[in-house]
Amino acid sequence: MKIIYKEMVERMGNRRSVKAKELQEPAPSPEELTQILTLASRVPDHKKLVPFRFILCDKAGQAAFGELLAEQFARNHPQEAKEKHKEAERQRALQAPLLIILVYQPVLGKVPEWEQQLTCGAAGMNLLNAVHAFGYAGQWLTEWPAFDAGIHQSLGLRPEDKIAGLFYIGSSDTLAEFREDRPRPEPDSVAIAWEAWQAGKR
Ligand SMILES: Cc1cc2nc3c(=O)[nH]c(=O)nc-3n(C[C@H](O)[C@H](O)[C@H](O)COP(=O)(O)O)c2cc1C
Repeated sequence: MKIIYKEMVERMGNRRSVKAKELQEPAPSPEELTQILTLASRVPDHKKLVPFRFILCDKAGQAAFGELLAEQFARNHPQEAKEKHKEAERQRALQAPLLIILVYQPVLGKVPEWEQQLTCGAAGMNLLNAVHAFGYAGQWLTEWPAFDAGIHQSLGLRPEDKIAGLFYIGSSDTLAEFREDRPRPEPDSVAIAWEAWQAGKR
């Protein structure tokens, strides 16, 4: 007998990001977070390499990461960096109740790196869906820290590692279905029949 998981369809259909700076307390409890991370990790993964890590930043971790951002910003902009800029970088890390840094950590020589990147991206998407399923909200950002060699070094990343995203997580007063949304692709605009594709319609 075919079962349609209506609540899952509805939840996936109304997930949307809430801006990091608009996220409020509370963050998921430790027990909820364990379940969220279990769901997030349930991804297709060729050869079961698990090429991702979640760095969980609680308030102390966020403050420490913020300090790294402030110091790196000052190193990157020795002329312009003023205390207010450094403070803005500290606040970047602290803007939401919880911060999870998703690190892409490939196992070299086993399967193509592209596949491992896709697995890591799937974990990021699952994380957002799981956060939403538990009644919280989140936003996936990268911004300059994800691409900064100094930040990579401070986090002890290897040359092949990447920061896949900074996931800001918290609560939102507004129910998901009432939050401002952005235009979404219609199936017709992203799906194309084989014959049309072969005929050159891209
Ligand atoms: C890998 C990745 C990196 C992103 N980095 C940024 C960013 O640095 N700044 C930004 O404004 N949005 C960024 N976004 C987009 C935000 O996540 C945006 O809120 C999202 O696309 C909204 O769509 P949603 O409502 O379906 O979550 C990024 C998205 C992805 C997938």
